[in-house]
Order: sequence, then structure tokens, then C-alpha cells
Amino acid sequence: MTVEIGTLIYQGKAKGVYETNDPQKVVVEFRDDITAGDGAKKDNLSEKGFWNSVISAKFFELLEEAGIKTQYVELIKPGLMLSKKLEMIPLEVITRNIAAGSLLRRYPFKPKQTFDPPIIQIDYKSDEYGDPMLNDDIAIALDLIDKENLKLINEITLKINKVLKDFLESKGLLFPDFKIEYGYDTDGNIVLGDEISPDTCRFWDMETCNTLDKDLFRKGESGVIDAYKRVASIILDDEDKEKWNISL
Ligand code: TMP
Ligand code: ASP
Repeated sequence: MTVEIGTLIYQGKAKGVYETNDPQKVVVEFRDDITAGDGAKKDNLSEKGFWNSVISAKFFELLEEAGIKTQYVELIKPGLMLSKKLEMIPLEVITRNIAAGSLLRRYPFKPKQTFDPPIIQIDYKSDEYGDPMLNDDIAIALDLIDKENLKLINEITLKINKVLKDFLESKGLLFPDFKIEYGYDTDGNIVLGDEISPDTCRFWDMETCNTLDKDLFRKGESGVIDAYKRVASIILDDEDKEKWNISL
């Protein structure tokens, strides 16, 4: 069935979600808009959506191969991803392998301190409340999730971290931390959704410790898109480039 893109059903800060002619599927549009600090800092960086969609597609394919359910169906073309329709859970599930970012601002960890096992932190995805950190009791009392699914999310997240961290380290990249989001598919299964890209992860070059992610934008540095492109060139193999018609 050829996909026909219909009405916009959700507009986020960097992506849009469209209905399709298949009621079980949506098209996610990765836009070039980039924000930080809850939208306080905004820009539009040419090709950002293109690279984020390709990087996310690669990670979703790796995770599917490892037996993890994701919303990914296929990349229609860079920038447009066909995905299973999910009812999203308003949680930001953050995994930390190395201390960075807000963890260093809030707690007396040492920069680059490593965590094994990793730290999983769950925030409430709410612009109104400023994405506050939750604990299990608060998440359950707010009716955001139940105990069994919270346990499942923790288990799946650890598996995702292992698959991605091992892959990235084999390519010479450190994976200090990342944020993912989950939803329910039409059968009520917990499925990984959203994106996994330099907008939502930290990637550091193993040799130089150079930042290759949105921290460059957060800090007002240049070379944001070059860094995103570098991540793509590191993780994509020749087959991926041919499949998505990408020259790097
Ligand atoms: P943090 O150090 O600012 O708490 O970020 C931890 C990770 O979560 C980092 O990889 C970036 C990602 N992240 C998002 O994807 N969205 C957000 O709104 C924030 C604050 C962080
Ligand atoms: N995602 C948040 C924003 O868009 C903050 C961030 O990623 O730093 O404002």
C-alpha cells in the first residue's frame, strides 16, 4: 500500500506526526528546528532533520535486530519516517553511563565519572512543570504508568543501552547518556518511540572527548550540523548509505 500523508496530529518542538491512510501507522517528520532550555533558545539548522532521521533509523534497525520492539517501520526518505502509531507515555527515560550535563549541576558527581551499572532517571515530560524528575511512587501516583510497566521500561532501557553502547564504542564513540520515550501500541505493548539522535543523546569522540551532539547548540558553539553529520558518517555502513541514497 502506498503511504498517503494526511492530517498533522501532533506538533512537537522538532518533529511533527501525521496521520496516514493506514490507521495503525503515522509519518514522523523530522524538522530542522532546534531548541534548548525548554524553547528559550531556538534556531533552524538546515539538514538537521535529515541527519537526525537517518541516525534514528539506523539505531532503531539495530535495536529491532536485537529483539527490541520499536515504532520504526521504514525511512520513506531522509526526514520522513513511517512509524507504528503509539499512545505515548509522558515520561523521559534518561540513561547515564558517564556523568555529564544536569547531573553535574545538581549533584556532587565528578565530571566523566562512569556508572556501571548505568543510572536510569525518569522525568515527567511536561513543559508546564518543567520536566521534573520522578520517583516510582510519584510516577504511579500521578497515574503516568503502573508498577509492572515501570519495571518493564527499566529492563528494556538497560538492554537498549547495552546494544547502543557496545555498537558506538566499537565505532570509537563514547555514549555518556541519552533520553528515550515509550508508548503503547494498539495491543497495549510497551514500544520504544520518538527518536534516538544527537538531539536526544550525548556522543563523545573516544580519542579527543569532542562533543558530537546538541550540547554544541546548548553552549552556543558552531559546527552543530557538521557534528551530526560526523555521527552519521561514523555509524552508517555502505549498505545504509545506498539504501537511503546518502553521500557522506
Ligand atoms: P541532561 O544532562 O540535560 O539531564 O540530559 C540528559 C540526556 O537527555 C542528554 O543526552 C540529553 C537528553 N535530553 C533530551 O533529550 N531532552 C531534554 O529535554 C533534556 C533536558 C535532555
Ligand atoms: N529539549 C529541550 C528543549 O527543546 C531542552 C534540551 O534538549 O536541552 O528546549
